[in-house]
Amino acid sequence: MKSTITGWGKCVPDNVVTNDDLATFIDTSDEWIQQRTGVKERRFCHVNNSDMATVAGLRAVACAGLKPEDIDVVILATCTPDSIVPSAAAHVQQKMECVNATAYDVNAACAGFLYALEQAKAFVESGLYKNAVVIGSEHITWLLNWSDRNTAVLFGDAAGAVVVEESKNEEDGEIYSFSNGMSSDKLDILEIPNFGSAMNRFTPNAAADVVWTFEGQEIFKSGIRAMAKSSEEAIEKSGLKKEDIDILIPHQANVRIIEGLERTLKLPNATTLKYGYKYGNTSAASIPTAFVDAIEDGTIKGNETLVITAVGAGLTWGGAALKLGNRITPLDETDVDLPPYEGTGIDVIRESINYFVPEKAEEK
Ligand SMILES: CC(C)(COP(=O)(O)OP(=O)(O)OC[C@H]1O[C@@H](n2cnc3c(N)ncnc32)[C@H](O)[C@@H]1OP(=O)(O)O)[C@@H](O)C(=O)NCCC(=O)NCCS
Repeated sequence: MKSTITGWGKCVPDNVVTNDDLATFIDTSDEWIQQRTGVKERRFCHVNNSDMATVAGLRAVACAGLKPEDIDVVILATCTPDSIVPSAAAHVQQKMECVNATAYDVNAACAGFLYALEQAKAFVESGLYKNAVVIGSEHITWLLNWSDRNTAVLFGDAAGAVVVEESKNEEDGEIYSFSNGMSSDKLDILEIPNFGSAMNRFTPNAAADVVWTFEGQEIFKSGIRAMAKSSEEAIEKSGLKKEDIDILIPHQANVRIIEGLERTLKLPNATTLKYGYKYGNTSAASIPTAFVDAIEDGTIKGNETLVITAVGAGLTWGGAALKLGNRITPLDETDVDLPPYEGTGIDVIRESINYFVPEKAEEK
């Protein structure tokens, strides 16, 4: 049996936060952020991660022409679950009303969507499950330390989802191959070591005072190497050649990393998706969100051969090669959406600003 992507959907909160907005309380500038990362703005989520994941998931299910009760498994890639017990996927299963689905979280940080998609392929092709929803969703701004300008300016919140089903004929497309893995010798270059059950929860403000270990330049170099290698391996496993690839969807962490990847990987005929300028790094959500954006703006027209690739904390990494089907028109739609938010994007994190930079908060 073969598997393919039959539905897609995304959910980005309306609350836009520009670089200039960040510069009102962080010692940074629009010029620095754009020059180093390509990011112009990002979204801040005013609800829970599972709310975004639910909207993206329901949009993908409708797009595939399915009902929530048709779904057999919900795989949620996230490193910012609403709760640890139960999983965020449990909340999503409940809110989506996927009453017949098993559901679980996958935490592989920014490479989570690739890990989850590989599992969906295996489930569908083995016959264990028929209809799988794979969601990448992150409320990563919740996890930021707003006094750390090295990390605080890089991220944003979003969710993206796809449905994976059996591919019945060539026109349906096919998920060909993966090269996913882990370089744990680089575990400590991107880490939040004081958050989780290893944290002493009796230390005052333990949850607020998260500290990110973040070796930006090392992540930059290792990221390009890992994404290039896993992409090449996925292409080779699929029996394709680099010339066959029409679209490259890299993790949207930083446009300079993506440009480095393009130079290293050298796909002669591929268009590279670059949407990070409007969302920042949305971790596990960045690939499915970019995928949906490219369908919506006409960059993806159907039938393309894709390579997707990501790198994340662990270091996790992954690459996949797949062929899209003919159909890129949704079979159905849903009007489900996030509840509205009356304030500004900055208002969403007002409490955090009060905590981390009280002198700036008072100015507003
Ligand atoms: C983080 C990153 C953008 C930093 O860019 P860089 O060119 O490596 O910049 P550096 O770390 O060398 O810092 C340069 C200077 O900018 C300063 N700086 C850091 N953050 C800043 C900010 N937000 N605003 C202004 N200045 C900042 C530094 O303090 C440093 O100043 P100094 O030279 O006086 O010490 C870059 O390393 C990167 O993108 N790394 C990968 C990160 C990533 O994508 N992670 C996610 C992986 S899933």
